[in-house]
Amino acid sequence: LRMASFIAYFVVWMLLLGSSQAKYEPNWESIDSRPLPEWYDQAKFGIFIHWGVFSVPGFGSEWFWWYWQKQKLKPYVDFMQRNYPPDFKYQDFAMQFTAEFFDAKEWTDIFVSSGAKYIVLTTKHHEGFTLWGSKNSWNWNAVDIGPKRDLVDEVVSAIRANSSLRLGLYHSLFEWFNPLFEQDAANVFTTNYFPTSKTLPELYELVVKYKPEVLWSDGDGDAPDKYWNSTGFLAWLYNDSPVRDTVVTNDRWGFGSICTHGGYYTCADRYQPGHLLKHKWENCMTIDQKSWGYRRNAPLSDYLTIEQLVSTLVETVSCGGNLLLNIGPTPDGRIAPIFEERLRQMGQWLKVNGEAIYNTTAWRAQKDTVTPSVWYTFRQQEKIIFANLLEWPHNGSVVLNEPVVTQGHTQVELLGYGPLKWGPMKPGGLQVLLPQLSFSQMPCQWAWTLRLTGAS
Ligand SMILES: *[C@@H]1O[C@H](CO)[C@@H](O)[C@H](O)[C@H]1NC(C)=O
Ligand SMILES: *[C@@H]1O[C@H](CO)[C@@H](O)[C@H](O)[C@H]1NC(C)=O
Ligand SMILES: *[C@@H]1O[C@H](CO)[C@@H](O)[C@H](O)[C@H]1NC(C)=O
Ligand SMILES: *[C@@H]1O[C@H](CO)[C@@H](O)[C@H](O)[C@H]1NC(C)=O
Repeated sequence: LRMASFIAYFVVWMLLLGSSQAKYEPNWESIDSRPLPEWYDQAKFGIFIHWGVFSVPGFGSEWFWWYWQKQKLKPYVDFMQRNYPPDFKYQDFAMQFTAEFFDAKEWTDIFVSSGAKYIVLTTKHHEGFTLWGSKNSWNWNAVDIGPKRDLVDEVVSAIRANSSLRLGLYHSLFEWFNPLFEQDAANVFTTNYFPTSKTLPELYELVVKYKPEVLWSDGDGDAPDKYWNSTGFLAWLYNDSPVRDTVVTNDRWGFGSICTHGGYYTCADRYQPGHLLKHKWENCMTIDQKSWGYRRNAPLSDYLTIEQLVSTLVETVSCGGNLLLNIGPTPDGRIAPIFEERLRQMGQWLKVNGEAIYNTTAWRAQKDTVTPSVWYTFRQQEKIIFANLLEWPHNGSVVLNEPVVTQGHTQVELLGYGPLKWGPMKPGGLQVLLPQLSFSQMPCQWAWTLRLTGAS
């Protein structure tokens, strides 16, 4: 009998132990089965920040080093020949990464006023330079050289001290010119010196130290996820890390994983499918259309206008995505006025129309079939349909073909203004009459939202 009760205890104990054990296993089937923490879909809008040594030349793009020394593209080679001594190395740019005007509180104020709910900062791009004092990046990090400050720590501290922004960290798996990576690549990734001594220790360090709620992975270097041990790392992240309950990740975890595995999908840079996707996705795009990093010689025409940015947000959210809007700070740590203005304008628009963006879901229709400049969003619980008008109707009325309306029951309101008159159309839909408003009387300037209740 004693033996029997001992066995019974043992079995119960094992069952209890089993239930509290690792939920996620290191394979894609298990990793992909994790539901995305809710906050991410509700947030809709984040800010991407590309900052690093590449900000110093501020020429071409953040791929400067690769284009100059690997691909030897003429504009880059010429730029260096014209402006720098012949023995100047890319590493020498780090000395000029000074950040003397960098004030994380000012950045936080701009981020908050943009209406974004999260940020994603490049902690290390493909150049390998870490913006924090990584122990695994000797003399190639912002504490040892350049600013001599832990830039990641300053951003994290400022946003946590005075905002409800969620923290996201971007991290490149590979590094263009790291000898260990080159060695593994020469061995066709049958060795893994680089991930075990550099990438993985850094990923664990970033998560434990800064507790990011977005981990934005990039740069698989054409190596398979097995080489990176991505599913092993993600199983730890989802089961045992300090952010296991709230962290979200993207899909760039090894060759072929993009748009297929991981957390939300990014699929491509500037991804805009134009229709609803079944899987949660993010449109990462940049205000300077030609670069993610700061570009000193960018003309005004390369920057997207606020009208283009608001339309991108509306279309993205309507199709079930989040928008991750990129800026490139200067090497001395400023957010240039053009970026600041665009971000503050986004916030002005969201102040009036945020109800149609945050916490919404995709509706059964995305784009109107009669008026294609109208994109829909939806509040499931209250059954509110939002028709987002990217153009102010030239003749004072707009036809919405998709909503099913009932006279005496359906109500239409212009956000920031008030109720509007409408009439049913045949065979379906409605025509909404817009008030005659001067520019200064309009609730906002770049897109307008109609709020429909009692419609379906
Ligand atoms: C916190 O943010 C608010 C609003 O952006 C600002 O007015 C205030 O000065 C900030 N406080 C600190 C300590 O940064
Ligand atoms: C891969 O990740 C798993 C889970 O974290 C770990 O147990 C294993 O040691 C890792 N393998 C390598 C080669 O780093
Ligand atoms: C979205 O929903 C969450 C959870 O219900 C809530 O905490 C948050 O305040 C909402 N945000 C907005 C902008 O409505
Ligand atoms: C306004 O123009 C739209 C198409 O551009 C048309 O469908 C609608 O009937 C017009 N409304 C009025 C009041 O003329």
